[in-house]
Amino acid sequence: CRAAVSVSDARKAAGDKFGADAAQMFFDTEALQMASGAPVAQHRAARFAADEAVADVTCGIGGDCLALARRGPVAASDVDPARLWMTRHNAEVTGVGSRLVVARADARVPASRCQALFADPARRTEAGRRVRRGNDYSPTLAEIVAPRPRLTTLAVKVSPALDEEQIPASVDEVEYVSWRGQCREAVLWFGSAATARRRATVIDGGDLRWDEAAPPSAEVGPPEAYLYDPDPAVVRSHLVGLLARQLSATLVTDQVAYLTSATEQATPFARCFRVLAQVTFGLRRLRQRLDAEGWHVGEILRRRFPVDPPALRRDLRGAGETGSQVVSLVCTRVSERPVVFICDPR
Ligand SMILES: C[S@@+](CC[C@H](N)C(=O)[O-])C[C@H]1O[C@@H](n2cnc3c(N)ncnc32)[C@H](O)[C@@H]1O
Repeated sequence: CRAAVSVSDARKAAGDKFGADAAQMFFDTEALQMASGAPVAQHRAARFAADEAVADVTCGIGGDCLALARRGPVAASDVDPARLWMTRHNAEVTGVGSRLVVARADARVPASRCQALFADPARRTEAGRRVRRGNDYSPTLAEIVAPRPRLTTLAVKVSPALDEEQIPASVDEVEYVSWRGQCREAVLWFGSAATARRRATVIDGGDLRWDEAAPPSAEVGPPEAYLYDPDPAVVRSHLVGLLARQLSATLVTDQVAYLTSATEQATPFARCFRVLAQVTFGLRRLRQRLDAEGWHVGEILRRRFPVDPPALRRDLRGAGETGSQVVSLVCTRVSERPVVFICDPR
């Protein structure tokens, strides 16, 4: 029964990542977890020059090289023979087999003649535990970024949670990419494909770019009629200040990524909430307000707030239930005091 559940979970995860193609593709569970989803891989592939041959030196089951092959020729390699077989199969069934050459190779030993190279190193130990440091990746970040004089473009997919001090100093651009509200990856770009120092990309939304050394800062201002919760790619790339400029918004609190402005503006880079009420946090006070207005609690967001959302939801059970309006709670601090903004989700 457990095996059946895990096959059906794997099919669902594959469908989320590869859409209709998943039904014909092969993957192992671990490789599927590590594979890039098609929309993210397509975005990245489109940043390589069209028709330029790209070496994907850690191809896994082919999540990235299928997208690269839709754009031009690809030399795919990996150390795992079973995954190479799956990449070959997956390329055939998705119609890009003729654009792909597949060979077993160790990425630490430069072999390909391509001038553009992509690497997505394994970020788990053999026992399946996730690793955090770039030099625990396989191959390590240092091994991938070692000087390769012939390359014009190098792109390395890393965890979006990689500490900034572990990013090699020679990087030209760091791009954080989100899809469906989650930051999926960071990509370190070296060479000609880099076009900004920092970039926050929202798939199907566009990007925010910054090309100076220090990321822009934002002022703190009093809470206004609208709150914005920036996309995680904007937060991870430290481009909240740039978004604040675009929205003519200020920070609700220093070092906390919620923005506020007097006007509502549609943006792909943040979710917008209309503030219905601002309550200094106290459970009784909050319950009373929800009951009085007939507001019951939907989503709870929090940044620098002392109570975690599941505990707060438990404590507010039953509040406002006579009413019909579902509200979002945005929990944070204002002038160091915990505050709950009761909001209408837009
Ligand atoms: C994160 S997965 C790649 C996933 C792939 N981009 C995809 O979307 O399917 C990392 C891959 O690196 C391979 N690998 C680990 N060390 C390697 C090395 N030294 N040389 C080549 N491949 C390596 C692993 O076998 C694994 O398939």
